[in-house]
Amino acid sequence: MLISSMLKIEQVRKDLARLNSDAVSADQLMDGVTRLLHEKMLKYNWVGFYMLEPGANPPMLVLGHYQGAMTPHTRIPLNQGICGAAASSGKTIIVDDVQSDPRYLACSLETKSEIVVPVLARGQVAGELDIDSHFPSAFGVEDRELVEYCASLVGKRLEQK
Ligand code: SME
Repeated sequence: MLISSMLKIEQVRKDLARLNSDAVSADQLMDGVTRLLHEKMLKYNWVGFYMLEPGANPPMLVLGHYQGAMTPHTRIPLNQGICGAAASSGKTIIVDDVQSDPRYLACSLETKSEIVVPVLARGQVAGELDIDSHFPSAFGVEDRELVEYCASLVGKRLEQK
């Protein structure tokens, strides 16, 4: 990874830490995270949270705060999409080429790669942070660590409820 990209991620981490201490609620934190990542990380072309609908049976992911183009996928069951797969496994999923993944639910023709990181609160999946890129293989190790850091901040905040 280029030194300039590493410095950018370092700066974004500092911005996230400040955002976390300033935010008065999980809701405000999620809004701030989507805005910050979308603005500062130039390959993150769509950034949004899907949260598990409380009490829904079967379980359902519902679109929350997001930045980027409107998506037709505002509600995703756990057996559909890369989003459903990440939520049901509780594990981060990175797809370098979305067209080659049969699980992929298309939001935009421009999307080439995607990362989905579950948000865990008290050890349970509460939702996830989903990021799409117009660039293939946009999400490397440092991106994964950054997005997992964001998800962990939100998870900790949800635990305080
Ligand atoms: N691509 C996702 C759907 C959500 S959009 O990316 C915003 C999926 O396959 O689950």
